[in-house]
Parts: sequence; C-alpha cells; structure tokens
Amino acid sequence: MINQAVAEIDLSALKHNLAIVKKTAYQSKVMAVIKANAYGHGMYQVAQALIDADAFAVARVAEAVELRDANIKGPIVVLAGFNTASELTICNALELDVVIHCEQQIELLNRANFDKPLTVWMKINTGMNRLGFDPADVTSVIHRLELNQNIRQPFKLMTHLACADDMCSDATANQVTLFDELVSNTIGEQSITNSAGLLAWSYAQRHWVRPGIMLYGGNPFSNKAAEDNGLKPVMTFKSNILAIHRVKKGQSVGYGGAWIASKTSLIATVGIGYGDGYPRHASMGTPVLINKQHAYLVGRVSMDSISVDITECENICIGDDVILWGNGLPIEDVAKASDTISYDLMCGVTERVPRRYIEVN
Ligand SMILES: Cc1ncc(COP(=O)(O)O)c(C=O)c1O
Repeated sequence: MINQAVAEIDLSALKHNLAIVKKTAYQSKVMAVIKANAYGHGMYQVAQALIDADAFAVARVAEAVELRDANIKGPIVVLAGFNTASELTICNALELDVVIHCEQQIELLNRANFDKPLTVWMKINTGMNRLGFDPADVTSVIHRLELNQNIRQPFKLMTHLACADDMCSDATANQVTLFDELVSNTIGEQSITNSAGLLAWSYAQRHWVRPGIMLYGGNPFSNKAAEDNGLKPVMTFKSNILAIHRVKKGQSVGYGGAWIASKTSLIATVGIGYGDGYPRHASMGTPVLINKQHAYLVGRVSMDSISVDITECENICIGDDVILWGNGLPIEDVAKASDTISYDLMCGVTERVPRRYIEVN
C-alpha cells in the first residue's frame, strides 16, 4: 500500500464541461479561465485538453509566459494585464492579449513603440470595484485607446460581474445595463460573464464568455447542484486508510483531544491533511466517501492525516481508498462544511499531491 494522496484529473470530464459551455453559450467564443494552475488542476495539461477553447485566460503575465514556454500557441488573455514596462514588452513579444484597467497602463502603452499592435481588452468597473475604469472616465479612455498606435483596433471591452451567482439580486442587471450604456458607441467585441453569469444570465453572454469553475465541474451557485447543469467533477481528491482503531467511550481522538467518543467507535486514520490541501478548518462531520459509503470527519485535521468515524460502515480495511471530494462526493459539500468555496479547495491542493491524469473515453 502506498501512503499517497492523489488528485485524479479526469480530462474527459473537462472536455465534457467545455462542451456544456459551448452548448449553453452557443453564440459566444470561449475564453477558458486557467489561472492559478487551472484552479489546481494543472495549467499545462488543462490547456492541452481544452484545445477547442477559443482563448485561455490567466491572471498574471508570469502564468502566460509559462504557457508560451510550454508551447501553447493560441490566444492568451492576461486578466490583470501588465504592471511594468518590462511586462508590457514581454506581452508584446509573446503576443499576449492584455486587459487594461487603469491609467498607469495607458501611460506605459503610450511610451511603448511596437512593430505590431497589441490586442487589448478595456475593462470597465460596473460595480465590482476591483479592477476597471470608472464609468465617469470611460468616454475619455475609449477615445484615447482608439487613437493609440500600439493597440490593435477595434479593441475589446469587458466587465466582471460581482453577484452573478445570486439570481435574486438586482446587481447583475444593473451592471449589464451600465455596461451597455457605456459601450453603446464602440464596436469592439464584448465579454461580461463568468460561469454563473453564462449559466444564469444568458442575455449577458455576448461575443465572449469566460468560464472558470464550471469547466472544472464546480458549481457556481449555492442553491443548485453542479449536475443540474450537466457538469461533471474533474478532480477527485483521494487517499487511503493508514490505520483503524477501536476507541472506547470517553476516549479522545487527535490533537487537543477535540473529539471524544460517545460510544465505542471505529476510527480510520486517512493519509490526507492540510499539508495536502485538505482544509484545516473542515468541521467535525465533514463527509468522506469510502467504498461508496459516507463516513464523517472527527477531531482536528492534522498536517498529514485526518480521522474518520467508520463505525456505521461495512467491510472497510486498511489500504482502502478514501475520496475527499470529486466522484460521488460534491466538493461543495466539503466546502460548506469548511466554511469556504469550491474554488478555494481546488486551488489549495498542494504541490506534494501528484496530479494523475486520466481520460476515460
Ligand atoms: C475576470 C474574470 N473572469 C472570469 C473568471 C472566471 O470565474 P468563474 O470561475 O466563477 O467562472 C474570473 C475568476 O475569478 C475572473 O477573475
């Protein structure tokens, strides 16, 4: 038996989810968001598998450089754009598409002298208040970008939705209305939606959609299961049972003796911990899956192991596989029990965990 946590990455599920994106936003081009190591799934392998996407999006120039170094040739959009003149030079040399969201970037572009122009997305702040030009400045910025020799014309336009996962909120409709007003006199391609936006707000799909979490089979909504949209989990995070102990009533388990048996219990020690990216704050009662049966976390999460109560389970042995999330156990259930979101769990799987790529059809 190998004591080894592993993240199994199902590339056929990834491709299936891309097909769902394309079916849902059938008039749009797809910018697959693969930043943060493709949400923990492995940026290079994901980029290779998503060859049918029209572009990739990453957050930082360094991520885009990694993709180019790995011979990924298609369009790559850098969502936060460049910060310095040297980053801008890299973007131009590697033919990266850049998001421009602030005055300093325009100044850097004004000072550059390129042989060939750069593809630029102008980002407008319609309510997220994170990155983007303020509505009051948009007309002047558009005018200046239209005159800029270093920019391929017409440049493209984007905004980002703050509350697309909340179908009861007015925020999305307000953001889209404001965006439409601000860009009504421009002709560039537009992009508004992330996963939640493209699923729930079809009128906001526009020329490009920018799905992230749904490609990985995560659910962008809190009140709906990912399967409701036909999505399949891509990552199955698993390990195995290292030991099984019979614990008597009154005995405790793990650091701080935080869990005390209320009756004689069978406790399995599983080789996964926060050193692998299992959430340190997973609450007692967080589910795991062993031989298709649910068992529940007891005690504190350690760096290399967790303890689960298998008293009610049948036929469980040392060495058996334990699924922490993925196939058969929605990551959202674990996220909820850990007071976080699926994005955080996926991105948090650490380097010591090998990614094992499978393709089932
Ligand atoms: C600008 C932008 N667009 C799209 C996405 C993808 O979002 P999601 O993973 O919710 O689909 C992100 C992710 O954070 C983002 O920052």
